[in-house]
Amino acid sequence: MLSAKMEKALNDQINAEFYSSYLYLAMSAYFQSINFTGFATWMQVQSTEEYGHAMKIYNYLIEVNSRVKLELIEKPQESWKSPLEAFQEAYKHELYITDRINKLVNQAIAEQDHATNIFLQWFVKEQVEEVSTVNQIIEKFKLIGENKSALYMLDRELGQRK
Ligand code: FEO
Repeated sequence: MLSAKMEKALNDQINAEFYSSYLYLAMSAYFQSINFTGFATWMQVQSTEEYGHAMKIYNYLIEVNSRVKLELIEKPQESWKSPLEAFQEAYKHELYITDRINKLVNQAIAEQDHATNIFLQWFVKEQVEEVSTVNQIIEKFKLIGENKSALYMLDRELGQRK
């Protein structure tokens, strides 16, 4: 059984992960609307991963006999100025999620809640990977600049994501 404070914090994180899923799905729809189907595929896979993150916490709460409480999911933005701007927004969002995960770990440590601390370590590692992946994509966009055929190649490359 978790403390009431930890239970609330993990429920809030479920909401943040569902919002991430929603945000990336909105980005996928935006990419479809401007015919970058590869970027759209990449974001759709990302959206599914975020759903998985939410469900991981959902299942943990059930496992430790705590209560899952689903809240309203905020409406995401619908469009961005460019593909690069969307990925930059995704990068910023992942830094925000990393900060949230770090705060959850701090709370688990403060409460000497070792089980939750161990559970959260998976998210700590996952955030390192996610921030790094999105950053690498942004670096590729910067190399590409205004080169349309290189942009098309990047769209094809990211579309390979399963
Ligand atoms: Fe679930 Fe992208 O953090």
